[in-house]
Amino acid sequence: MIDTYGRQITYLRLSVTELCNLRCRYCMPEDGVCKKRHEDMLTQEEMIMAIRAAAALGIRKLRITGGEPLVKSNIVELCRAAAAVEGIEDVCLTTNGTLLPKLAAPLREAGVRRLNISLDTLDAEKFRYITRIGKLEDAVAGIEAALAAGFEKIKINSVLIGGFNDDEIPALAALTQRYPVDVRFIELMPMYDSGDFGPEAFIPYTVVTDRLPELCPVPADGGVAKLYRLPGALGNVGLISPVSAHFCADCNRIRLTADGKIKPCLHSSDEISLKGLDYDGMVETLRSAILSKPKWHGELSYTERSHAARNMNQIGG
Ligand code: 5AD
Ligand code: SF4
Repeated sequence: MIDTYGRQITYLRLSVTELCNLRCRYCMPEDGVCKKRHEDMLTQEEMIMAIRAAAALGIRKLRITGGEPLVKSNIVELCRAAAAVEGIEDVCLTTNGTLLPKLAAPLREAGVRRLNISLDTLDAEKFRYITRIGKLEDAVAGIEAALAAGFEKIKINSVLIGGFNDDEIPALAALTQRYPVDVRFIELMPMYDSGDFGPEAFIPYTVVTDRLPELCPVPADGGVAKLYRLPGALGNVGLISPVSAHFCADCNRIRLTADGKIKPCLHSSDEISLKGLDYDGMVETLRSAILSKPKWHGELSYTERSHAARNMNQIGG
């Protein structure tokens, strides 16, 4: 379906839970989330109905996110049902990787084609710091399990944080020379309550090309990342710039949160509820949500926080 600004909306990001087994400082508060009432969250049946409704309106690509989707007990079943929805051509999932040692193979078998795995640092102490409770070795074991399970594509997502991991840009990018993965650097977004990062933490994507002059531009693959390649690499380095150079004019996505709110734009507080609707109600509500998608998200900078009024774990990273 085409929105009011001529953008073809083909991509749904579905957050299946707000819960997470890590507590990344840019994403959620230390004490986690106060678990919402079970009856306020979408059921598995409602999630599948929403995907069917979205597919009827032209959604072709689905990303399962969270929170951490793999903490959801029925995640494999949910992915299998999602992959079977007519019209959905591509099911991908974003994860912190720590639960992949058990789940990579079942997810692949259930029809998940591609994975994005978060990894902001290769240093065990820094990993513990940024995730507050995580262990680097679990994330690395997850990436290895994903590589062994035969996904069509694996992308490593690193949030760029000045003073924290900008010294690791070469080492993280070099993962593309060791493994058949893309590594994507994502500008830190100032979310509602995402930690007290000082101004030095917000660095533009251009620091990556400054640090790595050997990066050669390669043509974009239809996604939002600007793509580059290191000599002899097996995968691309992608740069994602939601803050310094937003990509709203090419935005093809809508989001659905675990508590059933359609978010036509990540950085807007506009939300439209799907909870409790039947299939026809979902189709009509999704249609009007797509038509209400704003032209762009307005200024977003260190001094101008996101207007989303939610943290990332409550939206879907
Ligand atoms: N800024 C940028 N990216 C974020 N993510 C979560 N919070 C933020 C933020 N404040 C993204 C990261 C992570 C994914 C789950 O969500 O890429 O890997
Ligand atoms: Fe699209 Fe909103 Fe994201 Fe901008 S912020 S790229 S309009 S979803």
